[in-house]
Amino acid sequence: MIAILGAMQEEITPILEMVGEYKTTEYANNKFYEANYKGKDLVIAYSKIGKVNSALTATVMIEKFGARALIFTGVAGALKRGIKIGEILYATSLVQHDLDITAFGHPYGFVPGSKISVQTDAKLNSIAQSVAEQLGITLKSGIIASGDQFVSGEERKSWIERTFDASAVEMEGASVAQVCDALGVPFCILRAISDEAGHKAEFDFDEFMVKSAQTSANFVLKMIERL
Ligand code: ADE
Repeated sequence: MIAILGAMQEEITPILEMVGEYKTTEYANNKFYEANYKGKDLVIAYSKIGKVNSALTATVMIEKFGARALIFTGVAGALKRGIKIGEILYATSLVQHDLDITAFGHPYGFVPGSKISVQTDAKLNSIAQSVAEQLGITLKSGIIASGDQFVSGEERKSWIERTFDASAVEMEGASVAQVCDALGVPFCILRAISDEAGHKAEFDFDEFMVKSAQTSANFVLKMIERL
């Protein structure tokens, strides 16, 4: 069983349309869609926005539905210059930019007993690379920073980029990463860029989110064919 997880309905609607038939199960305040796509058993869901929601949904997909690999599909804000709206990026590793006990001398993103950054699965990332080659598109990669905050200002944006050397920002990847890492499930986080996280990012987000979500969803289904 392979899990495909998004945060918002718009991020998984294109997947559900492409898989055709599916069985819906309601559990833990959420809906889980089981389908078979080209011989692969899938469980598909959107978690709702944020780190807590996405951690819960990822856990349910693994513990209740038996997911043995997880692919996250969705949109993100670009932090580094040169990463443009509509482009796809996979996370090499993920950090939580809003986790802060620096008052006690710890670095940003760190709490005792866990790591600052969690790495994604090299095999899944190389499958993403080969899909990009097949489609003839440029696939970017970099550190993704997650936090319970829509970033729409130059100051916060450059602080996150500088502090974590992050390429993109979103609100779920690092929590999903932590769940998958703790439970020993290989995962990758794919995001198409919807905005540049700066001044008025919300306007770009509103304009480009649906199209970028579709871009990411198409890409993820191509990956499923190669698993
Ligand atoms: N997801 C897409 N764009 C984002 C942004 N600017 N901040 C946080 N999450 C996002």
